[in-house]
Amino acid sequence: MPNITFWGHTSFLLSEKGKEVLVFDPFISENPLATVTVDEITTDYILISHAHWDHFGDAYEIARQNGAKIISTSEIAKKAAADGYNAHAQHIGGRSYQSFGSVKLTLAFHGAGIEGGHACGFVVDYYGTKIYFAGDTGLFYDMKLIGELDSLDLALLPIGDNFTMGIDDAVIAASFLRAKVVIPYHYNTWPLIELDPEVFKKKVEENTSSKCVILQPGDSFSI
Ligand code: NI
Ligand code: MN
Repeated sequence: MPNITFWGHTSFLLSEKGKEVLVFDPFISENPLATVTVDEITTDYILISHAHWDHFGDAYEIARQNGAKIISTSEIAKKAAADGYNAHAQHIGGRSYQSFGSVKLTLAFHGAGIEGGHACGFVVDYYGTKIYFAGDTGLFYDMKLIGELDSLDLALLPIGDNFTMGIDDAVIAASFLRAKVVIPYHYNTWPLIELDPEVFKKKVEENTSSKCVILQPGDSFSI
């Protein structure tokens, strides 16, 4: 079974024994919650939702030390390729087929952090397991469509408010997505986004059919 590991804030590692490894938004060296160091990370792919510093993070260092492929929006991937990295450019609505399965870029209502770009989310088919990583975003009604197009095993949702959805909007997102399991992120990194994730868990499990799993930084969940 695939495992998702949380490194705090917005960074996740998706892995399964003997299979390819994916990292989402590798914000490590400046992440006060991070439980790994950049040197310890082994991965084949790095997915970047947008170029804000708390998402792009240590992507280049990790890509360099692993020879990993960066997958992101056209603007970020083109810059990474120009900077000498192995990068695959996509854009919103498009799916690419990779060695582990596929990656589709979704809407995300947020700044791109790079000139001319868009923020995005990802729907990943990882050897048949379907995972939605929302990136940084506000709530949008088309999340309902994301849940209808793919039967999601796991949805990773920001809940910290101020920069992204807060708890109540993220509960609505969970109701739209209908994933088997929801895992929250983008909270308790700094005072501005401090909250009790148990409040989110309680509301998700009262108001939706999804189970909510809260991961402490360093924890893993078997999907
Ligand atoms: Ni952001
Ligand atoms: Mn962010």
